[in-house]
Amino acid sequence: MKGKILVTGGTGYIGSHTVVELQNDGYEVVIVDNLSNSNAEVIDGIEKISGIRPAFEQVDCIDFPAMKAVFEKHQGIRGIIHFAASKAVGESVEKPLLYYRNNLDSLLNLLELMPQFNTEAIVFSSSCTVYGQPDILPVDENAPIKPALSPYGNTKQICEEIIRDTVYAGTPIKSIILRYFNPIGAHPTAEIGELPNGVPQNLLPFVTQTAMGIRKELSVFGDDYDTVDGSCIRDYINVVDLAKAHVIAVNRMLENKSLANVETFNLGTGRGLTVLELINTFEKVTGVKVPHKIVGRREGDIEKVWANPDHANNVLGWTAKETVEDTLASAWKWQLRLRERGLM
Ligand code: UD1
Repeated sequence: MKGKILVTGGTGYIGSHTVVELQNDGYEVVIVDNLSNSNAEVIDGIEKISGIRPAFEQVDCIDFPAMKAVFEKHQGIRGIIHFAASKAVGESVEKPLLYYRNNLDSLLNLLELMPQFNTEAIVFSSSCTVYGQPDILPVDENAPIKPALSPYGNTKQICEEIIRDTVYAGTPIKSIILRYFNPIGAHPTAEIGELPNGVPQNLLPFVTQTAMGIRKELSVFGDDYDTVDGSCIRDYINVVDLAKAHVIAVNRMLENKSLANVETFNLGTGRGLTVLELINTFEKVTGVKVPHKIVGRREGDIEKVWANPDHANNVLGWTAKETVEDTLASAWKWQLRLRERGLM
């Protein structure tokens, strides 16, 4: 065993895939999740894949005494991967205080507890949303941070600053900030995947649910952008590839390989796809039609963004390996499994 890692939000979409990869690499995982946007059955899925049942505490990260009790119960937590956060852009505009409370307090609690329990390292889930609409594409980590377009995006920027300020103040911790592009797909076993509550806000779950007939039609938000077919461009990255980068980040900090106490990496493929290209590829790979219509632009959408992943490729030795075809096939396999299980 390589030691204990606390994964907040570990029953969520990216969290659950990361727990599996941590276990595959020999770590003992403690999950903390308040199940606000996931359910405890995810732990069964994780166990089916890895053969190991992670410890689970149903705790809200904004509850300081409860979080302290987790550190006391699970002595020797060496590192944290902090996924737990509210992430719906539209909701954050309506309920800004909820977003600031959840996303900031949870990080503050962790940063305060880490030195008390000699926890050395924290990986933070950030987003390419911090770049806004970049002036130069593909976007690298030195691109300027643009004013956030939503309270959600602002929480990511502020959390990054809180981490930098805390480390620069001499707190004995290290951090790696990972800026995700658009994670999609599911574990190849289809034991875990993305399971949004209610109507999906993100593109891929809406695509798979429409293909399944759960939703009548997908709305494509805009076809008048300055792109090949007029729809927005994103960098869609396989969730298992993304999960693996977290394990590399944890290893890097715990093995003292970091070049600075805070490092930041883009996690993307370096390839941009339009919404319409993604839908067409999905139809080709699965043979299933996705009824869709063009509607107006969605407020706050970025026209085009894709990653320059060179820094992660060269410094972390990590590359996104899965093809978009295999990734879309995995998302469909997961959707079919949900149907079999009567969940969708
Ligand atoms: C959004 C956030 C991002 C956040 C992520 C978390 C913005 C600008 N970005 O990413 O900061 O980290 O969610 O969940 O809000 N689309 C459709 N029809 C749909 C749904 C989406 O056409 O029903 C299009 C969107 O216009 C966009 C692309 O699909 O071009 C991807 O959308 P989505 O999956 O929501 O992700 P982002 O908006 O990129």
